[in-house]
Amino acid sequence: MTPAFHRLARHAAPMALALSLALTAAARAETAADPLAATGKWSAYSEGRAATPPMGWSSWNAFGTDLTEARVLDSARIIVESGLAAKGYRYINIDDGWWLKRRQSDGRMQIRTKLFPSAAVGGPEETSFRPFTDRIHQMGLKAGIYSDLGRNACSQAYGGPNTPNLPEGTVQEREVGLYGHIEQDIPLYFKEWGFDFIKVDGCGVRAFGADSERVKAGTYRELPPLIDFQSISRTNIPAVKALYKQIGSSLKASNPDGDYVFSLCAWGSADVRAWGKDVGNLSRTSDDLTPSWSRMLSNFDSAATRALYAHPGSWNDPDMLFIGHGEFDAQHLVQARSHFALWAMINAPLLIGYDLKQATPELMQIFGNEALIALNQDAGGHQAVLTYDSDDIQILIKTVGADPTRKAVALFNRTAEGKEVILTAEHLKYLANQPVTLRDLWTQADQTPFTGEAKFQLEPHQTLIFMASGTPVLSNGQYLSDLPGRVNPAVDGVVVPQADPFIYRMKSPWNGTRGRGDIPAYTGWGGAQADASPYGRPLQIAGKAFRSGIGILANSRLEVRVQSERRFEAKVGVDDSTLNTTEAVTFAVYGDGKLLAKSQPLRFGQAPQALSADLKGVRLIELVATSGSKSANAVAVTWGDAALLK
Ligand code: GLA
Repeated sequence: MTPAFHRLARHAAPMALALSLALTAAARAETAADPLAATGKWSAYSEGRAATPPMGWSSWNAFGTDLTEARVLDSARIIVESGLAAKGYRYINIDDGWWLKRRQSDGRMQIRTKLFPSAAVGGPEETSFRPFTDRIHQMGLKAGIYSDLGRNACSQAYGGPNTPNLPEGTVQEREVGLYGHIEQDIPLYFKEWGFDFIKVDGCGVRAFGADSERVKAGTYRELPPLIDFQSISRTNIPAVKALYKQIGSSLKASNPDGDYVFSLCAWGSADVRAWGKDVGNLSRTSDDLTPSWSRMLSNFDSAATRALYAHPGSWNDPDMLFIGHGEFDAQHLVQARSHFALWAMINAPLLIGYDLKQATPELMQIFGNEALIALNQDAGGHQAVLTYDSDDIQILIKTVGADPTRKAVALFNRTAEGKEVILTAEHLKYLANQPVTLRDLWTQADQTPFTGEAKFQLEPHQTLIFMASGTPVLSNGQYLSDLPGRVNPAVDGVVVPQADPFIYRMKSPWNGTRGRGDIPAYTGWGGAQADASPYGRPLQIAGKAFRSGIGILANSRLEVRVQSERRFEAKVGVDDSTLNTTEAVTFAVYGDGKLLAKSQPLRFGQAPQALSADLKGVRLIELVATSGSKSANAVAVTWGDAALLK
């Protein structure tokens, strides 16, 4: 990425007034059914192969568009020989830069054989990635490719004059993206070439408006932008979603065995928070990571409060790892370890972005830390939840395995100063009068057990990470907020998507202090949260605080997977953080589509009402909060202490 990236984004061209008929029809079909009606079905994405977050390597952070077959294969070989492959690193993904042009006689994509010599299967005009993917598959690995929603890719949109390997030829030949070619390119990439993973970027539907310098200069064709990065109101959310869904359908058709990963790259724009989890296996929550500490904070923040939006099959993606570079290089191992520990805790994909030929043993040890990989790859798929939150220190807890007495905990020092951190049994939802044991997941050393609380000294930028064991406050089940991988905010009640004010804002990596500063596009504000109100405040109903619970706006529907539990219980009401203090909200629990329990209409200031439901034989419950009004000022509600009990 270059400074041009953001400078250009500031001049986003006017949106298309008229959309293609297909997109409008798709958007209409989507609004037809009552979104609050219980369906008895889990609606988050479960196609493709991403039961746990994908792990592997990608060319982008290592080489940009200057990737070559030899460079990719070198890192792939090291992944196998070092034992990283055996630990789960599987996908070898080529990012932007692989393409030469689109052949005009039949629209077939051509590979730059100068970079990928094995692709020259029949002269320069007849290229195939099959020899490359065969090679990757023979190594026991899987192969990933890259494309764009629009006609053109990000390197074409933002690459400076020295960007190597931009597509060549006429304007039409350089249109390498999927727009208008989904049904041609996806079968080519998956059926014919044998790829297993695709990342689909969005620059082509963002940066080629009539005002774009490149369009004005005649080097690219105009495509009225669907995404305005600075304005959610000027972004055509249904159209972006419809394009991604169309690609998803094509992927499904091209992969009858379902062995593919679909990675959405809309950088948190287009309200992708609300729907990415229903459309693809991975969804980027922020703009690109750079190897700087403050940028890492920003990308982490864009995913950290969104535990409920990640599940087996559909993960938050704060971007590929930058370990090995800049402020995460071999001279910054504390920072590199923090970056890895945080990505592991929030179930981010673990995609190495480094030329592994350069990796020191210390860096290889970070990538290969089995205890942290195990957290990330835990089958439950529960993203860590913030149990303590400040600008300086955050404490995250993560449910792992089937034993509720054990959970992972990370103490994260965001600052450049040493800090004292007090961890309490309460943070872990353990009894304060029972011993808590901690095993350090970096050193495997057991700490002296503590009762009540323990004190730690953290180095600047350090993350301590432990496996904890103690006696849960809830003895006969688990809180829903500790099981985010089983809770899907199918409808989160957000009427007006807004940028999340708590995502860390750093000096622009591309633009310096030119302009007004970068505002993250991630429209997460008001979305459902574990152990916090939708506006990030502590959960509280009529003065009664809840340490555990789900905070969400009214006119919402949560889907919850039931395993062997027999009862659901919660104390429900309007949250004290609500600004709409007039409307009443009714809370209902459905089991496999049938009504099991319903509250009185409850208003702001009314005491929490207990709701419980017998779950015998039930596989999925839905928690529906209805206010009846469509007011943009939605009521904030709390499912306090919501739990699945034995
Ligand atoms: C965008 C994406 C990056 C990378 C580049 C390639 O910026 O967000 O991850 O794929 O494009 O040009």
